[in-house]
Amino acid sequence: MMNVSPVFAHSFGQLSVRLRKLLLSFSQQKRFKSFYITTPIYYVNASPHIGHLYTASLADARQRYEKLKREQDASESEIVFATGTDEHGQKIQRAAAKQKLNPEKFCDNVSTRFKDLFSLCGIGYTDFIRTTEPRHTAAVETFWNTLSDNGYIYKGSYEGWYSTQDETFLSESDTKIVNNQRVAADSGHKVEWTKEENYLFRLSEAIKEVRSRYEKNTSAIYPMKFYDAVMNDLQYFNEDISISRERSRVPWGIATPSDPNQTVYVWLDALINYLTVAGYPDTNSRRFKSTWPADCHLIGQDIVKFHAIYWPAFLIAAGLEPPRQIVVHSHWLMKRRKMSKSLGNVVDPFKIADSVSGERLKYFLLKQGILEHDCDFSTTLLLHAVNKDLSHTLGNCLNRSIAPKLCPDQRYPPFHSECYGTLTSRREGFSEPFDIIDMVTRLPESVETNCQRYHFYKGAEDIMACVREANALLHRNQLWHLDHSDEGHKKLSETAIHCVYETLRVSGILLQIFTPSIAGKLLDKLNVSAEERTLRHARESFSTYRGGHCPYTGRNLGEDKGILAPTVKQSMLVIK
Ligand code: MSP
Repeated sequence: MMNVSPVFAHSFGQLSVRLRKLLLSFSQQKRFKSFYITTPIYYVNASPHIGHLYTASLADARQRYEKLKREQDASESEIVFATGTDEHGQKIQRAAAKQKLNPEKFCDNVSTRFKDLFSLCGIGYTDFIRTTEPRHTAAVETFWNTLSDNGYIYKGSYEGWYSTQDETFLSESDTKIVNNQRVAADSGHKVEWTKEENYLFRLSEAIKEVRSRYEKNTSAIYPMKFYDAVMNDLQYFNEDISISRERSRVPWGIATPSDPNQTVYVWLDALINYLTVAGYPDTNSRRFKSTWPADCHLIGQDIVKFHAIYWPAFLIAAGLEPPRQIVVHSHWLMKRRKMSKSLGNVVDPFKIADSVSGERLKYFLLKQGILEHDCDFSTTLLLHAVNKDLSHTLGNCLNRSIAPKLCPDQRYPPFHSECYGTLTSRREGFSEPFDIIDMVTRLPESVETNCQRYHFYKGAEDIMACVREANALLHRNQLWHLDHSDEGHKKLSETAIHCVYETLRVSGILLQIFTPSIAGKLLDKLNVSAEERTLRHARESFSTYRGGHCPYTGRNLGEDKGILAPTVKQSMLVIK
């Protein structure tokens, strides 16, 4: 036997511990996590409205921010942004019958409308899932079998109220009588007495773990207002829930794997879409491992119960991780009533997109919507956001600063440090020495923080405040009256225009989160290459001022691709 000295054995042991740590950290580095964000999948019982577009716009802005961030970090991880359509259930069945179409054809038609709208508005999803796809049926069947194998499903009977519009079972206390008609207390939709044999899910069992996880992680539901509401509501979810319907009543859906006479409850079917996109049931695949759990499910406040209570309970019962965060938004109203297909007060996003462009409609929703509060739709606010911000503030700033009178060489002019102090950028009424370099330097960080908090309205406002400051710089220094044959005037003018271009360049990079094609046009005009459109490039501004080299100085302006965002007149606007 070999004789090993204790000193050698100790250092060898240390080495092997270090080696193991190294190998572990290496393998962890290799296992990257994609940023996975989802919208709800939309019911196809009628065409999309701006409430639907809002959820998609929030998710789109967040994923664009994540993309911008990853490009700068040269990170390997990808973005998975899923949306789609929820096509099963009684309400779709009835809507198809009303149009005398078979459900398949009916779903194809409306699902395409959602795709059309999203492409019109630049919603850059990476996967569009339809619950009628075979990959989804496979996921639902496996999920059901797993719940069953884990002892969470049993056969029972259900008797109670069912709202077909909301596709949900309700206890008596969740309903009320309005005009001699029993309706769901929350949505006001008609309910029907239902009595049938069903499979039930042991929610009473799984809910304990859901509660305990939320107690440990207060940011799992965001904003706090909705977290508090869920924590309060959890006490009412101690009973098991029905997760199937009799197939004779709801043939349009996925049959339960063990019993062809039952259809999987449409909400269970729908929620599983998030797993299908991640590659479930292949839980050993690289895709699934890097995608699940989802980083964010973005939802409207009317579907919190399904996402924040049922969904984590289903997942825990199936041995899977719940999503990392559920982000909830409030509603768009029309004359103070929730905009909804059933109330017939919806604003048609196709019509608005026709008048103002899909991208500008998305900008309006992001600029106007606040997660915590309902927002009343108004054409005045719409025109204000698209005209004031994008046409007047942004468009005018670019147009004025590239005019030959102000930029005779049609190049990114130099920054002359000695002139900077003589420029006036301070706005009247501001007591602090607010100068443009300071504002633009802080801009990327504040936009980032606001994107992480889903405060897109603040992020957009921060950008506009900088561009307004650039406009003020042009205006206050009366650049039109400077004589470029005078060296002093020329330097002053060049320095001012340099500051304006730096502001527009940084703003343009950040605006890619909100209005990618307008931002693209702006950056094209400033001749900023595709590689230079990252967050890092936004963070590196005013290099000459900081004693470094500015890579943009002296560069020819780019091709003119036309007006950034033409002004829209009230008379051009059609909303219904
Ligand atoms: N199909 C379900 C979701 C299943 S997800 C597993 C559904 N579909 S929906 O078409 O009715 O709603 C989709 C999204 O649009 C939800 O987030 C909902 O909150 C949102 N909106 C519908 N009307 C809305 C407004 N008036 N305002 C803002 N968003 C609203 O629920």
